[in-house]
Amino acid sequence: MDVTFSVNGERVRLDIEPRRTLADTLREDCGLTGTHLGCEHGVCGACTVLVDGQPARACLMFGVQADGSSVTTVEGLEGEDGELHPLQESFVAHHGLQCGFCTPGMLMSALHLLDNDPEPSRETIRAEMSGNICRCTGYQGIVDAVAAAGEVLKESTDVQ
Ligand code: FES
Ligand code: FES
Repeated sequence: MDVTFSVNGERVRLDIEPRRTLADTLREDCGLTGTHLGCEHGVCGACTVLVDGQPARACLMFGVQADGSSVTTVEGLEGEDGELHPLQESFVAHHGLQCGFCTPGMLMSALHLLDNDPEPSRETIRAEMSGNICRCTGYQGIVDAVAAAGEVLKESTDVQ
């Protein structure tokens, strides 16, 4: 089937099988391997991307369902000159990752949270990030990273 959607602001047109997941479409057809696959049945959150601004499990969605949508993957966080996004900087600074497998999904969930609530409480961060599982870091550093990134992003918005 012919599908057309945008990924990280670039228009993509593909001919894919209806059974192909969005995760496989992104990874194999678009070459965007930053979206990780862990459980492949909607539990771990590693494959989280934003579809029209809303978090979606790319392993549970078919590529054809993205037709006409705007998809953002972790690669979309990269700045114009290749610099890390403040959220990524914050994960590094606050020990929000070890192996990094869960990190793309964590970042996309956190991005959605901070877009909608620039000053979330730690309880809100824990609740909103509860759909993302990390097997190595522990969640303290992740919550610290999201809270700190919220402050940085808010400051940069206040300055503008
Ligand atoms: Fe999609 Fe685990 S790989 S939720
Ligand atoms: Fe390894 Fe989260 S950093 S699974």
